[in-house]
Amino acid sequence: MAGEQDRGRWRRYWDKASASYDKQMRFYDRLLADSRPWICAQATGDTLEVAVGTGLNLPFYPPGVELTGIDLSPGMLGVAQTRARQLGRTVDLREADAQALPFPDASFDTVVCTFSLCAIPDERRAVSEMTRVLRPGGLMLLADHIAGASWPVRAIQRMIDAVTVPLQGEHYLRRPLRQVQAEGLQVERRERFKLGVVERLAARKPAAG
Ligand SMILES: C[S@@+](CC[C@H](N)C(=O)[O-])C[C@H]1O[C@@H](n2cnc3c(N)ncnc32)[C@H](O)[C@@H]1O
Repeated sequence: MAGEQDRGRWRRYWDKASASYDKQMRFYDRLLADSRPWICAQATGDTLEVAVGTGLNLPFYPPGVELTGIDLSPGMLGVAQTRARQLGRTVDLREADAQALPFPDASFDTVVCTFSLCAIPDERRAVSEMTRVLRPGGLMLLADHIAGASWPVRAIQRMIDAVTVPLQGEHYLRRPLRQVQAEGLQVERRERFKLGVVERLAARKPAAG
């Protein structure tokens, strides 16, 4: 089954990357500015972080948040577990696929995903799953690098994509905002910067009518 093979391949890729991920992100986090605190400060109640990675967002969640984190990679989750312990923070960390979340509909008040919709093979399915597990009236919080605002930037990204998509599963020309709108969520806050290459947003699932 192609899906299973792909999952195994990317799991191995991220397991291998887990030891050096935090060091690499020290450089990228400068580009992403204050996006981690911007996202996490808006989380409330039962919160799911999708593709939690090594838990780099954990220090920024307010104390009242009940946090669950999923990721495809046990290696990344292992680092996140150590970080949670060091921070004295209780987090329910589980191995799972963002494209098929193992939670019933309407389970969470907040769903967070940072810098991962660029790496999840079917990002539309992932946004659809995040919408499904969000309670009516709940908030989706996303931050990622996206297709740039001007064509010269996108032309460079297209060349980068030609290498990174097959080798690392990393996409530079995505725009999660479109999927969020297609799912019927209402965008309440949105910021785009660094030549339009980074976008972060807060979008609400309509309350049940
Ligand atoms: C670039 S890292 C981002 C980690 C973290 N969200 C952050 O902000 O630092 C991408 C993460 O996506 C995870 N991932 C990739 N595909 C996934 C999938 N289908 N389901 C769940 N996690 C996935 C990887 O294991 C990795 O931890």
